[in-house]
Amino acid sequence: MSSKGLEGVVVADTGLSKIYGEEGRLLYRGYEIEDLAENVTFEEVCHLLWYGSLPTQQELDELRARFAKDYAVDPKVIEILRRLPPETHPMAALRTGASALSSFDPEAEDMSPEANQRKAIRLTAKMPTLTAAIERLRKGKEPIAPREDLGIAANFLYMLTGEEPDELSERIMDVAFTLHAEHGMNASTFAARVTVATLSDMHSGVVSAIGTLKGPLHGGANEQVMAMLQKIGEPEKAEEWVLSALERRERIMGFGHRVYKALDPRAPILKELAEEYAARNGEDTDATKWLQISEKIQKVMAEEMEKRGRAIYPNVDFFSASVYYTLGIPADLFTNIFASARTSGWTAHIMEQLADNRLIRPQTNYVGPEGVKVTPIDQRG
Ligand code: CMC
Repeated sequence: MSSKGLEGVVVADTGLSKIYGEEGRLLYRGYEIEDLAENVTFEEVCHLLWYGSLPTQQELDELRARFAKDYAVDPKVIEILRRLPPETHPMAALRTGASALSSFDPEAEDMSPEANQRKAIRLTAKMPTLTAAIERLRKGKEPIAPREDLGIAANFLYMLTGEEPDELSERIMDVAFTLHAEHGMNASTFAARVTVATLSDMHSGVVSAIGTLKGPLHGGANEQVMAMLQKIGEPEKAEEWVLSALERRERIMGFGHRVYKALDPRAPILKELAEEYAARNGEDTDATKWLQISEKIQKVMAEEMEKRGRAIYPNVDFFSASVYYTLGIPADLFTNIFASARTSGWTAHIMEQLADNRLIRPQTNYVGPEGVKVTPIDQRG
C-alpha cells in the first residue's frame, strides 16, 4: 500500500521549523511565529534560519549590507525577462529568471557549504528584484533599480512603483515575508530537497521549488483567493456563493491544510494587518470590502464545516490575498511574493539536506499487470 500524497510519511529530521497541526502553532527554530512576526524583521528571520540564531546588531548590519549589495541582477537576466511574451504568468517568468541567475553566478556549481551560504543570500536578495522587474516589463515599463538603503520588504515595494512605501505598508510586507519564510516539508521545499539530494546545485533546487509552489493547491492558492473575492464582489453575496460552490463540491481557495487541523496561526496575523490597513484608509475603501467578504466566507465555512463534522480552516493564503491586493499588487503576482520570501526557507532546507545528504528515492507500489508478451505491431488494436 502506498500513502497517497505521502500523507503521514516523515522524510527528514529538521531543525528549521515545527508545526503543531492540532493546536495551530508554528515555530521557527523554537520561536513562536507570533513572537517573530511582532518583534523581528525578515532579515533577522533569514539569519535565524541559515545560521541557527537571531543576529546581534552587528551581524544584522552585516547581513543587511550583503543583501543590499546583492539586490541587483545582471542586465542580461533582465534582457531574458524582457523577451518573454507579456502574457507569461509571473511565476513562469520567475522560474525562468531564477534559472538564468545561475549562468551569472560565479559560484553556481560550487557546492561547498560556504558557497551555498553566499548563494542563499544572493538568491533571497534577487528574487524580489526579479519579481518587480517581471511586473514592470509585462506592463511595458522599465525596471526600477533597487535601493541599497532600503530593507528587503521596502525595496520590493519601491521597485514596483518607484515610490518609497509608507511605514505601515513596509511593515505589512515585512511581516508577510516573515510568515512565508519557512513551513516544514511543504511540497515546494520537498521538491528543492529532492533536487539537491542528487547533488544538483542550489539554483536547480530553487527552480524546482518555484515550479512546485506555482500550483493552486500550494502557493498559487493566494491568486485564486483574490479571484474568488472579486467574483463574489459584495459581502452580501458571499454566503450564497460559498454554499453553491460547496454544493458543486468545489474547493474554497485559502481553506484547508494537510497538517493544520486548526486555524493556521499565520492567518490571524495577516488578518490583523489587513484590519490595520483598512482602518487607516477609512471606512469606504476596497480594503474594508475585501476584508468584509473574507470574514463572511470564514463564518459560512465555519458553520458549514461544523455541520459536516469537518475541520477546514483558513490557511496563510486566505488573508494574504486581500493584504497584497490593498497594497496595490496585482493578484497574479501574489505567488511570486510567496516564492521570494520562501527562498530563505528553501535555501535553508537545501543546506540542511546537503549537510547530511542521502539520495531521496522512494518506491512505488506496482498495481499493473505482469507476464504480458509483446504483440507484433500489425496485430495490435
Ligand atoms: N474547500 C472545500 N473542501 C475542501 C477544501 C477546501 N479548501 N480542502 C479540503 N477539502 C475537502 C476535500 O474536498 C476532501 O473532501 P472528501 O474527503 O469529501 O473528498 C477533504 O477535505 C480532504 O481533502 P484532501 O485534498 O484529501 O486534503 P489534503 O490534505 O490533500 O489537502 C489542500 C490539502 C491544501 C490541498 C486542500 O485543503 C485544498 O485544496 N485547499 C485549497 C487550496 C489552498 O488553499 N491551498 C493552500 C494550502 S496552505 C499554504 C500553501 O501551501 O500555499
